[in-house]
Amino acid sequence: MSENLFIPTEANKAEKYEAILPQIEALISGEPDLYANLANISAVLKQGFDFFWVGFYLVKEEQLVLGPFQGPIACTRIAFGKGVCGTAWKEGKTQLVPDVDAFPGHIACSSASRSEIVVPVLKKGEVKMVLDVDSDQLNDFDEVDQAYLEQLCQKLSDTL
Ligand code: SME
Repeated sequence: MSENLFIPTEANKAEKYEAILPQIEALISGEPDLYANLANISAVLKQGFDFFWVGFYLVKEEQLVLGPFQGPIACTRIAFGKGVCGTAWKEGKTQLVPDVDAFPGHIACSSASRSEIVVPVLKKGEVKMVLDVDSDQLNDFDEVDQAYLEQLCQKLSDTL
């Protein structure tokens, strides 16, 4: 496994995802340990895009429990249907939130977070975890992030 990540500097967001996603696939293929893979995915996304916070919450005993992440400390448990993460779990669908203050019930782990995208990871129709990405800028995520992060979560699901 290569320890060096190639991140194109003169590239738009889609081109960055195109360069980074195959490297994530290479990193996680062949490694059976889920937590090791979630940790490396968080690290690659943080390094590649300098997101404010990126990490995973895993479904455990009827709650979402904090998993591997990169960024400031975060809330450890989220109930079904609560906040952006709990809503992604309940609906089984990506939540694209341009302004967290406008999302009813948003859970502010950090007051610096302004926009957010949460993508569920499903296996056989059941949400197993969510990928949560936060930005300290308003309106920082769009359909490009959604398409590529959903693709990534599908690859992750394939390893479960
Ligand atoms: N904002 C999330 C909580 C998790 S933190 O952003 C890391 C939510 O509303 O579910």
